[in-house]
Amino acid sequence: MEPVKILDNVYWVGALDYGIRDFHGYRTDSGSTYNAYLIVDEKITLIDAVKKDMHPELLSRVSRIVDPARIDYVVSNHAEMDHSGALPEIMRAVGFDKPVYCSKMGEKALAAQLQTPGLNYKTVGTGDTLKLGKYSLNFVETRMVHWPDSMVSFCPELGVLFSQDAFGMHLATSRRFDDEVAENVWAYEALKYFANILTPFTTPIAKTLEALTESGLLAQVKIICPDHGLIWRSNLGSIVGRYSRWVKQEPTRKAVVVYDSMWRSTDCMARALADALSTHGVLARLMDLKKNHRSDVAAELYTAGAILVGSPTINNEMYPTVAELLCYLRGLKFQNKIGAAFGSYGWSGEAAKHIQAALGDMKYSLPTPEARIQWAPKETSPEALMVMAKAVADALPEKRVPPDFDL
Ligand code: FEO
Repeated sequence: MEPVKILDNVYWVGALDYGIRDFHGYRTDSGSTYNAYLIVDEKITLIDAVKKDMHPELLSRVSRIVDPARIDYVVSNHAEMDHSGALPEIMRAVGFDKPVYCSKMGEKALAAQLQTPGLNYKTVGTGDTLKLGKYSLNFVETRMVHWPDSMVSFCPELGVLFSQDAFGMHLATSRRFDDEVAENVWAYEALKYFANILTPFTTPIAKTLEALTESGLLAQVKIICPDHGLIWRSNLGSIVGRYSRWVKQEPTRKAVVVYDSMWRSTDCMARALADALSTHGVLARLMDLKKNHRSDVAAELYTAGAILVGSPTINNEMYPTVAELLCYLRGLKFQNKIGAAFGSYGWSGEAAKHIQAALGDMKYSLPTPEARIQWAPKETSPEALMVMAKAVADALPEKRVPPDFDL
């Protein structure tokens, strides 16, 4: 398999995973890539690895440039298995005596996960530099972006930032660079990735962006090479600007109305709510959980100010799909969101109450009590739902939804 030249002496040598559809609970309809990079200098250096069992693809691409046994250094910017699982097999080809540079937390995580004695870990931290010849790598620890071990490597001579998970996206394509893919595709995939992977870590991401800006490093970056998706060589300002905006989690005048339904009563309620929200100038996204995955809901919610969650009551509980969504959203720890619960019922009607309580536990603000309708709505615009829609609209900021959010 062929490598892709990024610059003289810098190559992409990763693996393409067109078939993956589940990435720890995130539905990856567009597949993914595990990016690895080779720098050819006096010391030949591999940056990051790929998922277990994908080492033949990486080694095949490397072999088109150099014999893998000629690699001198390996850098592991991030220990999660999508970037380290193949490390033992790769080191068998490279040589177990060769150093694997990683953070202190990285060594712990790699040793515990790979369970491969004999790997020659060398720990590095912020401020450390590795000389490769005419090039060098400066390491910066970026804890919790995405894991405690995460770090980035910057080559100042080339202006290349190897950013591990940061600025990534789950997108498998034969194109490697941002300017080879339409903006609406990469903008959505980058947002979906951020919402589903990085939302819990917006505070450390904001601090990292600030530190990289203050140190002057970001201003020197000409190319960003992340561990997933496209290499940024033309839209750096755009993706860094998006991250700077996304970390703020600012609410917009947009609401996600998400629900499941048994006999279409809750479905009718959801439609009435979405319609009423629109009349108040709110961009409403109607998402039926029978047709929309929780990770698509998370992506829509990221750029919204409110979520209205609906479920019928079944056996005194909410629908399992709705419970699953709430569990997923609780883990993502969204900030600055408004919540509201609704649902139909036959006898007892606990579901909407349980949803309302769950949204409150997640610290969403609740401008209105839950709305419940027994059996089925008797009119197309039930009063309780009109009141709910107005309360949510009144609680949302007046600010319009920026056009680039309306993907
Ligand atoms: Fe792509 Fe946190 O691993």
